[in-house]
Amino acid sequence: MLRQVTGIRYVTPLREGGSLPGVVEADDLGTYVAKFSGAGQGPKALVAEVICGELARRLGLAVPRLVVLDIDPVIGRAEPDQEVQELLRGSGGPNLGMDFLPGALGYDPVAHPVDPALASRVLWFDAFTENVDRSWRNPNLLIWHRELWLIDHGACLYFHHNWPRAEAAVRRAYRADDHVLAPYASRLAEADADLAPRVTPGLLAEVLALVPDAWLAGPDFDSADAARAAYADHLARRVARTADWLPQGSAA
Ligand SMILES: Nc1ncnc2c1ncn2[C@@H]1O[C@H](COP(=O)(O)OP(=O)(O)O)[C@@H](O)[C@H]1O
Ligand SMILES: [Mg+2]
Repeated sequence: MLRQVTGIRYVTPLREGGSLPGVVEADDLGTYVAKFSGAGQGPKALVAEVICGELARRLGLAVPRLVVLDIDPVIGRAEPDQEVQELLRGSGGPNLGMDFLPGALGYDPVAHPVDPALASRVLWFDAFTENVDRSWRNPNLLIWHRELWLIDHGACLYFHHNWPRAEAAVRRAYRADDHVLAPYASRLAEADADLAPRVTPGLLAEVLALVPDAWLAGPDFDSADAARAAYADHLARRVARTADWLPQGSAA
């Protein structure tokens, strides 16, 4: 499991986010961006955040630290905003927290050229996880301490919204036309040779063990561990087929 944090106090909503994330403080004196289990996207978005965020980190990409925020729904009572009140009331138990990066800038491809090796690794990772949320309009990348940080992986792993048809996604090609780093990603073959062998069954099991059981419960599987096994199997088979889904050459 991820580290668990208690004593959550709601500070302010992050209005720019579609999933109504908020900034919270906790008893450990940390400040976190919270993604709530009761938000419209549901717990699968949080599953994708953990699997993809922790995979990216283990592949050497910068991702703010993730924690589980244990929320007592009564904290909603103190909220003047009714929408926030209802969100908190519907989000008792584990929620996702991400270290808040103070003063981080939203990524702008014109202002921040990215090294081709790094851009290629990010694009490879997004192709692997079928991330459609790294576009020019909505890059979900931050610049902080002069480094490129990856956030918002809730829309990845699209296949998990329809398990009976997930098989078709194992080899599904990734369209990078819209990817914000595509113009810089000229070293995809090297990224592939470096990263694909690192996505081992052991690494996948390690990452899946971090997902709270509560978010894996649902009609698709008999148990949280059965769900973990299905994710691991899908991702292991996809990573073995990079030639089927990785854009060829420079993605631009
Ligand atoms: N860890 C963070 N540190 C600082 N700002 C963040 C962080 N995470 C998100 N943000 C800001 O909040 C916005 C919404 O967060 P995001 O994870 O993209 O949520 P959504 O799923 O709603 O798009 C981001 O575009 C960014 O401006
Ligand atoms: Mg976003």
